Amino acid sequence: MEKIVSLCKRRGFLFQSSEIYGGLQGFWDYGPLGVELKRNLKDAWWRDMCSGHNELVQQPGAPSTFDMVGLDSTIIMHPQIWKCSGHYDMFHDYMVDCRETKKRYRHDQVRGRWVTHQETKIFVTTMAEADTEQDEIQHRALKYFRLRPKDAESLSYDGPSTTLDKIDEFSVVLGPDAKALGTLTEPREFNLMFKTTLGALGGEDDYAFLRPETAQGIFVNFKNVLDSTRVGIPFGIAQVGKSFRNEITPRNFTFRSREFEQMEIEFFCHPNSSQEWYRFWRDRRLAWYQSLGLSRESLLMREHAQEELAHYSVGTADIEYAFPFLPEGEYGELEGIAHRGDFDLRSHMEGKLDPSTRPMVVEKDENGKPRHRGSGRDLTYRDDVTGERFTPHVIEPSAGADRGALAFLCEAYHEDEAPDDSGKMQTRVVMKLHPRLAPVKAAVFPLVKKDGMPELAQEIYAELKRDMAVFYDEKSAVGRRYRRQDEAGTPYCITVDGESLTDKTVTIRDRDTLEQTRIKIDELAAELKRRMMA
Ligand code: GAP
Repeated sequence: MEKIVSLCKRRGFLFQSSEIYGGLQGFWDYGPLGVELKRNLKDAWWRDMCSGHNELVQQPGAPSTFDMVGLDSTIIMHPQIWKCSGHYDMFHDYMVDCRETKKRYRHDQVRGRWVTHQETKIFVTTMAEADTEQDEIQHRALKYFRLRPKDAESLSYDGPSTTLDKIDEFSVVLGPDAKALGTLTEPREFNLMFKTTLGALGGEDDYAFLRPETAQGIFVNFKNVLDSTRVGIPFGIAQVGKSFRNEITPRNFTFRSREFEQMEIEFFCHPNSSQEWYRFWRDRRLAWYQSLGLSRESLLMREHAQEELAHYSVGTADIEYAFPFLPEGEYGELEGIAHRGDFDLRSHMEGKLDPSTRPMVVEKDENGKPRHRGSGRDLTYRDDVTGERFTPHVIEPSAGADRGALAFLCEAYHEDEAPDDSGKMQTRVVMKLHPRLAPVKAAVFPLVKKDGMPELAQEIYAELKRDMAVFYDEKSAVGRRYRRQDEAGTPYCITVDGESLTDKTVTIRDRDTLEQTRIKIDELAAELKRRMMA
């Protein structure tokens, strides 16, 4: 992971936000290569899921044909939306504070081990990454017991590492940054929504939230979309945009950030076919990641157990990826596909539903009134053919653009050997990004900076640039130029050499196979497009 993080900074994929001021935890900036990668990922999602969808053709595994449309709703919305969605009451994590260091941690993200030295047993915790976790626990235990590294054998461990939420006795816990035992408070709830104020006065009635998911913008526009288009059930609304969560312990590079982008679909269907649509979307989304280069072995489809389901969900599966910062055999969530039933539309109509009731009824306050009032608008659907009126059920494939970009970066990172300019084999770092995702599709080089080669190369560059992201480079030896493009993930390098001037051909070098083929300049654009579509 360290190598990937270092390459991301060195080559301009990702930078720590506000770095010159010491950085801001949980916020990341995408550099010149990163912005193209993430944009390509979002564009691929938008094209494959929404704008390129053919509503006339039944897709394999789909119960019927369906429509797809897009939406771009605001980040700040009416605060009542978050009350009815459940985020206001339930969107929280448990956190613990350290009385000694004043630091705050997410309860289920602090890891530790039981360590015993001469009859004294303590739970030593750390926030270190998986690969340094054991070293850090040992280091901290030695320090606590005032031992030297050579005394490590006098420590004994009870069980594998586990998270703090599995521990009941806090008085024997050594907090992640504390020197004394028992400095962590009992876990307390912490709402993850960022609060902001509207207008100049900013009284208690003027507060609002930055959205923690894009989904609610879709639910509250369900009727607008129906009334303004010709779509009918089943259909999906797609949205890509920023979401904000005040994560207690943002970590693992961009994996858990406080500002991130989501790519969400709310798919509205008849309750009777909702399970079939749920399975369709689950399988389709897994296949999509594979189509862009994630290997099946590094992906996991994990169905949630009943007790793990979110309050609204009657079924959820996570698509998980074996991120290299996780311990061997563990996977991290890339996307959730949830069967949300009719929770959202009914909550926005009637008032927030009580998720513990079956069938769900509106949650009441002590006066018997709805705890959070709904909009009162009719969000039911009437089938024109059958005349049936019902509240649609919703299947929600909800993906993170930043987690996706991170997974594709991790999967792409390879080290292999390639000849340098003198033909000697050298280790090369190559980002094997799918051509659709690669920030630069092709680089154009004159072999040398003379004899008319730069002029011809620049002509080719200008021509290709009309169609795709290309890069021109005439500096340094050609082998070094190839290396730089390999690190950037550029799938093709086009070289103009002496032959090019006479027979109007160039070579195309393939990043992954290193194969070089000669092709007519006239056919170059078509050949590149053909290769990228293959
Ligand atoms: N509307 C449902 C929803 O938001 P979620 O599982 O909380 O569900 C969906 O989020 C996806 O958004 C996750 O699978 C993940 O890819 C991304 N995501 C969630 N929290 C994130 C965070 N703090 N940083 C980066 N990505 C995040």
